[in-house]
Amino acid sequence: MKVMTVLGSPKKDGNTAGALAMFEQLMGDGHEVDRVNIVDLEIAGCQGCYACQANPDEPSCVQNDDANDVYRRMLEVDAVVYASPLYMWGFPSGIHAFMERHLSLVTGYMTPDYKSLLEGKRAAMLLTCGGPVEGNTDAIQMVFDSFAAYGKANLVGKYIVPGCTTPDEIEGKAGEIVKKMAADLTG
Ligand SMILES: Cc1cc2nc3c(=O)[nH]c(=O)nc-3n(C[C@H](O)[C@H](O)[C@H](O)COP(=O)(O)O)c2cc1C
Repeated sequence: MKVMTVLGSPKKDGNTAGALAMFEQLMGDGHEVDRVNIVDLEIAGCQGCYACQANPDEPSCVQNDDANDVYRRMLEVDAVVYASPLYMWGFPSGIHAFMERHLSLVTGYMTPDYKSLLEGKRAAMLLTCGGPVEGNTDAIQMVFDSFAAYGKANLVGKYIVPGCTTPDEIEGKAGEIVKKMAADLTG
């Protein structure tokens, strides 16, 4: 299986990166991983021009940044893991912009011609947060459910690591959660 892992934290050595690295290590055996670090890329938010809607067959955003290239790579994988810290009960701005730009992968939303280039791809959210799951992650979970449905993706699960403090404690906190994510994604 080929998996794209999207690191949405501004930190490449933080809690989310630690949890994602553990997942990637598990996948190392027999699977291919294509890592995308949002912080290294230039990806602006959607301008809302809808020019992409004229081309249902390929990623075709008119903005000349890194998004189309990542989306072309995304079309080659079987599964995508969106890994992010929780920022103000939602996604941080960098990965949020990346998610907005998924508009160019979906055409005719809510019409009979509704098409998604991500249809049937497995998708998972890996989230780290300082607080608890309950009463803290409801909004982002709802957003991710809707986001996956919008892309006609096959939502495998949302894997949340609560109570994250410093990255040196992430292994103990995230170990079982990322193991489950790897099993669910590859099963
Ligand atoms: C700007 C900002 C906003 C945050 N908002 C929340 C929040 O709403 N709920 C929460 O539980 N943790 C929140 N946190 C804590 C982070 O989600 C948590 O520490 C996470 O594991 C950081 O991951 P990272 O090391 O990959 O950046 C916030 C942290 C920052 C810096």
